[in-house]
Amino acid sequence: MPAPTLIQLDRPDPAAIRAELLEGIAAHPARTAPKYLYDALGSRLFAAITELPEYYPTRTEAAIFARHGAEMAAARPAGATTLVDLGAGNCEKAARLFQPFGVERYVAVDISVSYLEDSLALLARRYPGITLVGVGTDFSGRLHLPPAAGAGPRLLFYPGSSIGNFTPAEALGFLRQVHATSQGGGLLIGVDLVKPVTVLEPAYDDPLGVTAAFNRNLLRHINRLAGTDFRLQDWRHVAFFNAAESRIEMHLEALGALTVRWADGERSFVRGERIHTENSYKWQPGDFAALLGEAGFRPPRQWTDAQGWFALFMAQA
Ligand code: AVI
Repeated sequence: MPAPTLIQLDRPDPAAIRAELLEGIAAHPARTAPKYLYDALGSRLFAAITELPEYYPTRTEAAIFARHGAEMAAARPAGATTLVDLGAGNCEKAARLFQPFGVERYVAVDISVSYLEDSLALLARRYPGITLVGVGTDFSGRLHLPPAAGAGPRLLFYPGSSIGNFTPAEALGFLRQVHATSQGGGLLIGVDLVKPVTVLEPAYDDPLGVTAAFNRNLLRHINRLAGTDFRLQDWRHVAFFNAAESRIEMHLEALGALTVRWADGERSFVRGERIHTENSYKWQPGDFAALLGEAGFRPPRQWTDAQGWFALFMAQA
């Protein structure tokens, strides 16, 4: 049983992260990149969100796989026996594709290769015939893979509708990089669709307060990374559907006038002022198919649930 190959491509630079965060906090309006929601506790809180009855994307995507997985396998790009899993985490979703998709090489990509070590060690025991590679890289900035990711066509896998956390312009740039990285293979991607606001808003502002905890936990993470003195009790979670932009917006709103301080600066907030912490774009299926075309892919196949809430697209390069 060959051991998985583990490669960390780019190490996070603490000074650059601090500078980026403080620039966003000092800006008017204040903003932070959604990736900072995911420290260890944030990742656990997100896992809890996916269990909530109000958060439909995870279970809807799973139901589409259960119903149409065989058709998806039949529609995969010819010769793409390498599966590249973007944001692999515990590798569970991708592992379900190994057998039906005839996977020979699995490349798990996440921000830190240490997150992947345990999951890949388990997979090595379960799938001794598959070459396993773990790659640590922040692909939200630039997607590049080491030679160990293999020559020949690759199927890139980006489930969970994380593409919705990019603006449409960023999503296009990212999909162009995916197209190049596929080496003539293709992409299987999960996309959350536009639906009634009565379904959308509770998914991002659940009555148990798990999403609120996920959002407010960001402040603790920023305190650690940037040396700020945010107090969680001073901020409330706000989430709403911005129909003009077709996106859920998450914000943190100051409950009173306050000042946040760090070593060489400070930022005052008036009561009700917000920090914009995340966008989650909801796509019309035709618009997403057009975006894939603009990124260089051929017209995709798509599968959706009966209510048309979520879609999986398979696009050949
Ligand atoms: C990871 N991403 C697809 C989630 C979403 O739905 O945009 C993140 C999330 N934010 C709040 N709830 C879930």
